[in-house]
Amino acid sequence: MDHSTLDQLLNEGLEAITQSESLKSLYDVKVKIIGKNGLLSEAMKAMGKLPKEEKPAFGKKANEVKQAFEKAYEEREEALRQKELHERLSEEEIDVTLPGKTQFMGGRHPVGLVIQESVAALNRLGFSVQTGPQIEEDWYNFEALNIPPDHPSRDMQDTFYVDDTHVLRTHTSPIQIRSMLKSKPPLRIMAPGSVFRCDSDVTHSPNFHQIEGLLVDRKVSMAHLKATISFVLKELFRSKVEVRFRPSFFPFTEPSAEFDCSCPMCSGKGCRVCKQTGWIEIGGCGLVNPKVLEACEIDSKEWQGFAFGFGIERMAMIKYGIGDIRLFNENDLRFLRQFQK
Ligand code: DAH
Repeated sequence: MDHSTLDQLLNEGLEAITQSESLKSLYDVKVKIIGKNGLLSEAMKAMGKLPKEEKPAFGKKANEVKQAFEKAYEEREEALRQKELHERLSEEEIDVTLPGKTQFMGGRHPVGLVIQESVAALNRLGFSVQTGPQIEEDWYNFEALNIPPDHPSRDMQDTFYVDDTHVLRTHTSPIQIRSMLKSKPPLRIMAPGSVFRCDSDVTHSPNFHQIEGLLVDRKVSMAHLKATISFVLKELFRSKVEVRFRPSFFPFTEPSAEFDCSCPMCSGKGCRVCKQTGWIEIGGCGLVNPKVLEACEIDSKEWQGFAFGFGIERMAMIKYGIGDIRLFNENDLRFLRQFQK
């Protein structure tokens, strides 16, 4: 064991370091040379057999070899680390110019949008939402609303009968009855919901939606009714539409009216939407017939009410310029996406 053995060990070690191509093999070299049982440790053990005077010089040399080896090791380790990092980065390269995967956001259905906006408008006037069953008893759907047994709307051609005493509700008006039986006046309710009629063409669907409004209080007049309807329609069309009443007839209101709104498309000048009349028919309304109040055990001498109802699909068709009611139920994404916000 002499100095040249140490030099040789260093040379071999340095050579092995330069040849290492990975951190793993580099570490193996370290273990082999300066590890606990490595070649340098072996050489140090052999130092014990050297004559006393040679020991210090040999020890010094061995330390120098170790330091030189460690320095070379650290440099190579850093170089390999950089190399591996670069390789990984270039493998994981992201081409930011590639087109991304489009995520389509869901949106509300136009019928849902009109319901949402009508409910919000009526809510601001203190009306709260009430519901009722879609399979309704004849009594609520017709009888209590003063619709006599021979009324045409009771005809099998207009109404889906479930059995002798149950129908698929033909309007949301039975919810008026349910609300008046449930709560004492004064009351202010609205009832959006699904309704059913034996009818189908471009503007009629067998299943559509209506929203009903009902207010019962003291000294209620047609003026209150008109102001309420005007407010809701202004909110819905987001424009200063005019409202007009035309005398009409409904068994559950007296007096009754149909209400029109000045065409929001042409501001009443006349266009395709309003068929050049400047007006669009929206729904029915009136003061609650005293007979209906009495059927709900409300004293009609003390209390009056107003009620109104309109079709949601019809409203959406006007608001969004939709020509065919069947589009609402086809689930065609090209149609539905146009309502995404
Ligand atoms: N229920 C009626 C229909 O479906 C609409 C209606 C008219 C509702 C007058 C009302 C009303 O509340 O007062 O044709």
